[in-house]
Amino acid sequence: MKVQAALHKEFKIARIDDRLYSAFIEHMGRAIYSGIYEPGHPQADAHGFRKDVAALVRDLNIPAIRYPGGNFVSAYNWEDGIGPIEDRPVRLDLAWRSKETNHVGTNEFAVWAKDVGIDMMLAVNLGSRGLSDARNFMEYVNHPGGTYWSDLRRSHGVEDPYDVKMWCLGNEMDGPWQIGHKEAKEYGRLADETAKALRGLTPDAEMIVCGSSNDEMATYPDWERGVLEECYENVDYISLHKYFGNSSGDTLNFFGKIEETGRYIQAIGGVIDFVKAKKRAKNDIYICFDEWNVWYHNREEDSKNWKSWDWPEAPALLEEDYNFEDALFIGGLLNEFIRRSDRVKIACIAQLVNVIAPIRAEKGGPAWRQTIYYPYQFASLYGRGDALNVSVNGPTYDCSVADDVQYLDVAAVHNTDEQAVTLFILNRHLTDTVDLDMDLAGFVNAKVAMHKVMAGHDLRLTNGPDNPDRVSPKDGSGVGVEDGKLRGNLPPLSYHVVRLD
Ligand code: AHR
Repeated sequence: MKVQAALHKEFKIARIDDRLYSAFIEHMGRAIYSGIYEPGHPQADAHGFRKDVAALVRDLNIPAIRYPGGNFVSAYNWEDGIGPIEDRPVRLDLAWRSKETNHVGTNEFAVWAKDVGIDMMLAVNLGSRGLSDARNFMEYVNHPGGTYWSDLRRSHGVEDPYDVKMWCLGNEMDGPWQIGHKEAKEYGRLADETAKALRGLTPDAEMIVCGSSNDEMATYPDWERGVLEECYENVDYISLHKYFGNSSGDTLNFFGKIEETGRYIQAIGGVIDFVKAKKRAKNDIYICFDEWNVWYHNREEDSKNWKSWDWPEAPALLEEDYNFEDALFIGGLLNEFIRRSDRVKIACIAQLVNVIAPIRAEKGGPAWRQTIYYPYQFASLYGRGDALNVSVNGPTYDCSVADDVQYLDVAAVHNTDEQAVTLFILNRHLTDTVDLDMDLAGFVNAKVAMHKVMAGHDLRLTNGPDNPDRVSPKDGSGVGVEDGKLRGNLPPLSYHVVRLD
């Protein structure tokens, strides 16, 4: 299958915000407890955090992390997680029908985040609580001292404020399952007033308002319009969430969900523009895609389990075993975020450890990288700089979620500091090799400095504690630059990272 493509140095989409490669971690299942934190584990540090897990996290070079939820945040009392651990209450977590010991709270999480080099992005509870508690929380976190909440933080051994700049105004408030679920106007008003109050405390903080829980919600995309009409001038981002699956076993349709996500982003971009025009507003709002991942392997079974279990503590929940097909999909999805980086400034893989996560950790045992770890890592390491437009002209297919889908999915990022351009390429054809011929205008003297490939596996192959590297990238070959063109053969169902300098 021949595919012609063209890349031009000057055809820039946008400067990518580094936070496009952020993550999310929630107090649920074994994400925190026996995920990142397990006192007594042979790899635990002095604070009880697992060093083996932290090392895998550090290698991802994650810029920011959303915490502590998720659905959990909508009934969370942040004060339960501060002060001496022995005095903290055990609470019922209404979102996941579990017991929350509160052994990890804001200050412990901050220690971990600092250790792994990630900025915190904190969510406030706008479900069971409201403006006043959000204000107190920010004062505890961000105010230097001399007030009740900031001095309380100092009395807890944290002298300097954290100066957290990213604040999520609740979580999935459109979802009937959410504790404190609201109508769009009602939520939009609350978000507006909360944003104003929080900005009074930290003027340069960025506010993220909840969009729809996904693009299949009955209220989508009217929810976004209704919310933004109430708070447009006081917020900076609107959040999008989307989880993906291939329950029908239709690989091409699964891969077509990459295009479907592009439409979702485009539609919300349109809503933002509409509200901006209607309000005659001057400020711009961008997209924070703060929950995305594959989630379907155990979804139904998990859902049955947790809805009926008897309030366990840190139970195994949403521990998806990701396969090779999922890794290919995630590579393509990250390409879509790069191509849409004019609109999407922040995106968070959901989640990070154990719960729908690229990293898994056994209680008392080893930690390992799931298949999806690798495309996420490549994008985070090499996807920083300017997103460039790539025109692709090759065979296409139609599927139930999208038409005219190119078999070859390409994104390009130009790092001007390092004078390198990285191509992220997915051949989603089930049987055909792509014979690639890509014009490299503006990069004619480039040479291939790195080529990594994920290919040749059964689509259902996974990694596990006994075979942690079974699905992992290898050095690629057969791709090179000749006469200002990138040429080479890309096998069916393969993902490539080609770095030119
Ligand atoms: O990430 C798991 C859950 O998915 C989150 O708690 C919620 O926000 C979403 O529905």
